[in-house]
Amino acid sequence: MLDQSIQDLLSRSLKRIEAAQSPAELEAVRVDALGRKGALAAFSKEMGKLPPDERKRIGMVLNQAKQSLESSYESRERAFAADALSARLDAEWLDLTLPAPGPRRGHLHPITRIQRELEDLFGSLGFTVLDGPEVETEYYNFDALNIPATHPARDMQDTFWLDGGRLLRTHTSPVQVRGMERLGPPLRMIAPGRVFRNESVDASHEHTFYQLEGMMVDRNVSVGNLIYFMKTLLTAIFHRDVTVRLRPGYFPFVEPGFELDIQCLICGGPGCPVCKQSGWVELLPCGLVHPNVLRTSGIDPAVWGGFAFGLGLTRLVMMRYGIDDIRQLQGGDLRFLEQF
Ligand code: DAH
Repeated sequence: MLDQSIQDLLSRSLKRIEAAQSPAELEAVRVDALGRKGALAAFSKEMGKLPPDERKRIGMVLNQAKQSLESSYESRERAFAADALSARLDAEWLDLTLPAPGPRRGHLHPITRIQRELEDLFGSLGFTVLDGPEVETEYYNFDALNIPATHPARDMQDTFWLDGGRLLRTHTSPVQVRGMERLGPPLRMIAPGRVFRNESVDASHEHTFYQLEGMMVDRNVSVGNLIYFMKTLLTAIFHRDVTVRLRPGYFPFVEPGFELDIQCLICGGPGCPVCKQSGWVELLPCGLVHPNVLRTSGIDPAVWGGFAFGLGLTRLVMMRYGIDDIRQLQGGDLRFLEQF
């Protein structure tokens, strides 16, 4: 009687296990047959009422039924797991033979690149590379460069003033003074760096741009030395002859002072926004260091002389690469920067 019921349950459950379409259906069969409150458990309870011999025999039948159900259940469970795995492998399949995009490598900004080129060039000519603060004092930015408070030249540069009389340096020339104080004569130094002007921005003006200051102090420095170095510099930068012109220029810290212009390499002469339609670009203001500037820095102008120049590094980079809008350089647009 009990025998038959157990066999019935067994064959019914085995069929259900076989027919289960999902792990959930399989689990339902397990709960019904093998669960703590399932059919086999109920049979075990009933078994308790049987005489000992009979109980032993039915116990064995029950055990066999249980084992057979368990092993059938487990093999079906493994099959579901294998199906799930292969479904996942199909869904998450990666084609390892596809060419990978590779890591994106950065590169130096064109300004940094030219700056380093110039540092190497001047290094080979015996110049020391100096750095100076971007937040400067009035003294270094103006007074020590022969630009007293009352001097109209202060208005030549629109200054970003900070609290406490400090300012964002308007040029790299203050590093000349720091260099003279630190190194003493004779000296050869350059000082590349950022400078700031409170001006409205357009294709050729930025509030933040780069200059490279240069200075040489020695005995018997002449305009001839100045011109020689400037020519060496321009040839090294452009790797070709560029047409230059020298005009008198006024800067309080040099006497005489010059504007060294190069013919615009963007338009080649006829005029464009970069050269303000003039065909020429002011690139290298320079001159012989004013005796007042030497004296202020503790150098005797009767013994020592010097030349100085303030190269427009940003402008130079624009000429070198044919960039016609200064705003591109600091704009952070990767499509622009990745061209270099
Ligand atoms: N500091 C000047 C400026 O930014 C440029 C300059 C002119 C620098 C003449 C010099 C120089 O060293 O000799 O406008």
